[in-house]
Amino acid sequence: MGYKIVVVGATGNVGREMLNILDERQFPVDEIAVLASRKSLGTEVSFGDKTLTTKDLDTFDFTGWDIALFAVGSEATKIYAPKSAAAGCVVIDNSSLYRYDPDVPLVVPEVNPEAVLGYSKKNIIANPNCSTAQMVVALKPLHDRARIKRVVVSTYQSVSGSGKEGIDELWDQTKSIYNPTDDKPAKKFTKQIAFNVIPHIDVFMEDGSTKEEWKMVVETKKIIDPKIKVTATCVRVPVFVGHSEAINIEFEDHLDEDEARDILREAPGIMVIDKREDGGYVSPVECVGDYATFISRIRQDSTIDNGLNLWCVSDNLRKGAALNAVQIAETLGTRVLKKG
Ligand SMILES: NC(=O)c1ccc[n+]([C@@H]2O[C@H](COP(=O)([O-])OP(=O)(O)OC[C@H]3O[C@@H](n4cnc5c(N)ncnc54)[C@H](OP(=O)(O)O)[C@@H]3O)[C@@H](O)[C@H]2O)c1
Repeated sequence: MGYKIVVVGATGNVGREMLNILDERQFPVDEIAVLASRKSLGTEVSFGDKTLTTKDLDTFDFTGWDIALFAVGSEATKIYAPKSAAAGCVVIDNSSLYRYDPDVPLVVPEVNPEAVLGYSKKNIIANPNCSTAQMVVALKPLHDRARIKRVVVSTYQSVSGSGKEGIDELWDQTKSIYNPTDDKPAKKFTKQIAFNVIPHIDVFMEDGSTKEEWKMVVETKKIIDPKIKVTATCVRVPVFVGHSEAINIEFEDHLDEDEARDILREAPGIMVIDKREDGGYVSPVECVGDYATFISRIRQDSTIDNGLNLWCVSDNLRKGAALNAVQIAETLGTRVLKKG
């Protein structure tokens, strides 16, 4: 017997990837429901070789369903996730709504799979922010060996991280640059995104950092170790899919770059591509559609005692969202629900 799965936000970028990944990984699905807003009622989405028709989230009854994969943003999640959880259908949520709730586990299965066991307090498990997910996959095996004291990270985040509207804005604005009569002013982003970079993702906090930067700090502490200090600068770049990060790490113990490379090669979810030659590293367009978090440019930071630099790239719609959510469902299935 398999699972009865609900994909909430099935017409969105993350929802569609969830359907692809459930199919690719042959998740044991007995029955599947795909939900979106009322305006998408009847919209068709693909699940393997099947075509499914979306239903209205507002009128859906979660009773009797096992797991709901939510990808609808915080506002809709606030209304509907508690309904699902109360009906006994475990929520795996992609929004930021529950990530910082002490009664909700925040899980990256390569890093803290045992945390899923905490799901039962609220029947909800949270998926981290896309930039955090790929970073903690890289940090955890290094932390286990040499204890991380501090991380300085700069991100280069693709427009798909801000949903369908972000992708459309980069596409339309790029075309309009060549056709000045068809001006496409910034709408989803705060400045022109085509042929530009924007050092601002999510709202500003009182201390001058942005909420996206704050998320990377708080989530890394919750997932790996509260003692790790993180400082982040998050930047939106004109890339459709694939987030990149330049990460500087300071350790308590010495860690040689060759040993770090070997540790990362053996670590779950990581692919090391690190040749010191033209093209011997991974760029975001090359990671699209992949499961791995790619690590390149591993090198000693000679300005501090125990420091390393590295470059980390991953598909934000996959490891940063849909893949991680399906991996959480797999972990919950294997360790708790035990169907399939
Ligand atoms: N993109 C990423 O890299 C990423 C990474 C991590 C987490 N996330 C999170 O995942 C969630 C979805 O992101 P996305 O990129 O897939 O966004 P998206 O492409 O804009 O899709 C949003 C989805 O949510 C549905 N939706 C929105 N409001 C709704 C409502 N009131 N009732 C029912 N359905 C509603 C939309 O349905 P309609 O088509 O009917 O409007 C659509 O299916 C967000 O919380 C986002 O923060 C995204």
